[in-house]
Amino acid sequence: MIDDLAIGFDDAHRALEREALAFAAEQIEQIEHAGGSEDELAARFLGAIAGRGFLKYVVPARGADGRERYDARSICIVREALSRHSGFADVMFVMQGLGSAPIALAGSAEQKSHWLPRVVSGRTITAFALTEPEAGSDVASLATRATRDGDHWLLNGEKTFISNAGVADLYCVFVKTDPAAGAKGITCFLVEKGTPGFEVAERQEVIAPHPIGTLRFTNARVPDSARLGNVNEGFKVAMRTLDVFRPTVGAAAIGMARRALAEALARSQARKQFGKAIAEFQGIQFHLASMATEIEASKLLVYRAVAAMDARGEAVSAWSSMAKLYATEAAQRVIDKAVQIFGGTGVLKGSTVERLYREIRALRIYEGTSEIQHVVIATRLLKDEHSPY
Ligand code: CAA
Repeated sequence: MIDDLAIGFDDAHRALEREALAFAAEQIEQIEHAGGSEDELAARFLGAIAGRGFLKYVVPARGADGRERYDARSICIVREALSRHSGFADVMFVMQGLGSAPIALAGSAEQKSHWLPRVVSGRTITAFALTEPEAGSDVASLATRATRDGDHWLLNGEKTFISNAGVADLYCVFVKTDPAAGAKGITCFLVEKGTPGFEVAERQEVIAPHPIGTLRFTNARVPDSARLGNVNEGFKVAMRTLDVFRPTVGAAAIGMARRALAEALARSQARKQFGKAIAEFQGIQFHLASMATEIEASKLLVYRAVAAMDARGEAVSAWSSMAKLYATEAAQRVIDKAVQIFGGTGVLKGSTVERLYREIRALRIYEGTSEIQHVVIATRLLKDEHSPY
């Protein structure tokens, strides 16, 4: 169906792209180079991004038809620009969206009006707490438990690989409220920093700077008013959140891949071996050509997925997963080729392609591994009554 391929942008998107690229090239690049501790950088990146007003894109807005919906094309445009200069800045931007999506998608009117303006201003930093030591790809097997205690709930258990752990003020935590019910026994709660019984147990160090860590709940008491959506309906909230944000991971990958190709184009024309620029060798030209082709294919998949989401007001799961799967895997290949074209200087610490090589790796894992994206795509293919194939 050719209508599936409609990718529309308006003048506001074009203006946003110009603004985001200029902002990232100046301010984000400056912060990245000034350096500092992980927490300092997190605060500086988020402060700059919030100050520029970009956080309004990570929460849904009410459209002309009165419905609240994401402008996912704008999220992608900003992610592409930020990740071109700093994977860390990109994470600080998008985590405000991922960490607040359960509120936007399942929260009450009060919860939304209380928290979402704070998310947009950057006053409240959010986190999405799903993964556990024994529940990564298999979300339904998570074991952190919430038991009722009057009009409160007692949370017990552990979460791991939680982005913004220790930096966030507010955590959307997915827990078991009916352990025997698998996916149908999960509920999402808001847990604020400082809640007695809740602690950031450990900060984890990963290959590219990214605030991340483990959370521990020991009889952490949260009011029922902190529950997001109905009891035992949290699994679908988690899946719907991921459906929205997975294609935007693809956009971050495109930003990194484009930067890698730009670096490789410049390097291959400047670097001389055997008496001529290495770009004159067909071996290098084939690399450059396939890098550009993979980037263009990624752009089509990512922006098709988000344009459809924006138009329909909800994500198409299979397209979200295809976009994330293809764009992140392609970006890894593109960046690897860029390192190869740079030769030894490509693995020198501090070079741009070396940074990209470290930064891209996690994108093939977080928000669902590439293997899980295959599972989602195949499940949809086999279920959908109106398959286009
Ligand atoms: N939207 C709405 N409902 C959905 C859905 C979706 N996208 N996907 C599934 N469901 C529903 C199903 O229809 C089913 O409901 P019914 O029984 O009523 O029909 C129910 O949810 C259970 O679905 P499945 O049987 O398909 O569930 P499953 O246990 O087989 O798991 C899975 C499916 C796709 C593998 C899922 O577990 C998954 O996505 N795993 C990957 C987890 C992941 O991405 N983790 C990333 C952590 S967050 C992160 O990385 C962020 C960060 O820190 C940066």
